[in-house]
Amino acid sequence: MNKEKVNRVVIVGTGAVGCSYAYSLINQGVVEELVLIDINEAKAEGEAMDLNHGVPFAPSPIKVWSGSYQDCADADLVVITAGLAQKPGETRLQLVEKNTRIFKQIIKEIMKSGFNGIFLVATNPVDILTYVTWKESGLPKERVIGSGTVLDSARLRFELGKYFNVDSRNIHAIIIGEHGDTELPVWSHAKIGIENLDDVLERKKDLKKECLEEIFVNVRDAAYHIIERKGATYYGIGMSLVRITKAILKNENSILTVSSYLEGEYGQNDVYIGVPAKLNRNGVHEIIEIELNEKEQEQFNYSVSVLKDTMKSVI
Ligand code: 2OP
Repeated sequence: MNKEKVNRVVIVGTGAVGCSYAYSLINQGVVEELVLIDINEAKAEGEAMDLNHGVPFAPSPIKVWSGSYQDCADADLVVITAGLAQKPGETRLQLVEKNTRIFKQIIKEIMKSGFNGIFLVATNPVDILTYVTWKESGLPKERVIGSGTVLDSARLRFELGKYFNVDSRNIHAIIIGEHGDTELPVWSHAKIGIENLDDVLERKKDLKKECLEEIFVNVRDAAYHIIERKGATYYGIGMSLVRITKAILKNENSILTVSSYLEGEYGQNDVYIGVPAKLNRNGVHEIIEIELNEKEQEQFNYSVSVLKDTMKSVI
């Protein structure tokens, strides 16, 4: 009898980010099998038990269990959220050495299982750890993806939605670059509904262009503000990871600002960084190269140079 092919996601790391992702994934009915792996096996086991008790209320059936790296053999997607998180005041880049060490070990174990699916990396500094995952796994670049600036773009859409009093789902605006302090907004392509941002500002004299800078700074520094208050961020990133998962497993051809490997796009090479990319069952199907204005291109180049400098200590 042919076993029916079902989608399996494996989460490595059942901290707050991994569990928020799992919870959201179950509630949105995206996959049929969900495996939880953690260095603390009892924690993964407890999380699986707890999540299973919500399955009768989920939109579709799902099997959830705490497993081992061997479960990656049949996985479609392995999502890594393991590693150390930022402490108050700490930058994402300051985590690079410790988390690279943890990652090298994890990737080795996953690849030993015979895994041949898609990697989605969320641990910070996400762009560099996605590069490490690509190097260590030997998988094609299309099948190694980082959460990049998907969350930052969502934060920007939320803030712009509030400012313009428009449903954030109707805001088309993106953040690109490092998921971190050197990221940048692409104002030159931002749209409020179907109107260019500049046209809306022109039409509505009571709204001020200067507010955009403040909105961006709030978005860029959002994680610091949240960590100061509650110690960590996890719901936003959890839901961003579900959005990316759906784009991939449901073969959506959706465009999201994931961390992707550049080979000449945006004038850059040999770096993983947040750019708009079309995602489907094969991973990154295409990087969408939009025309940046001079200032945006300069900021993007700077962001790349900071990532490459930081990477030197670990690659
Ligand atoms: C965030 O932006 C900390 O990278 C995490 O919420």
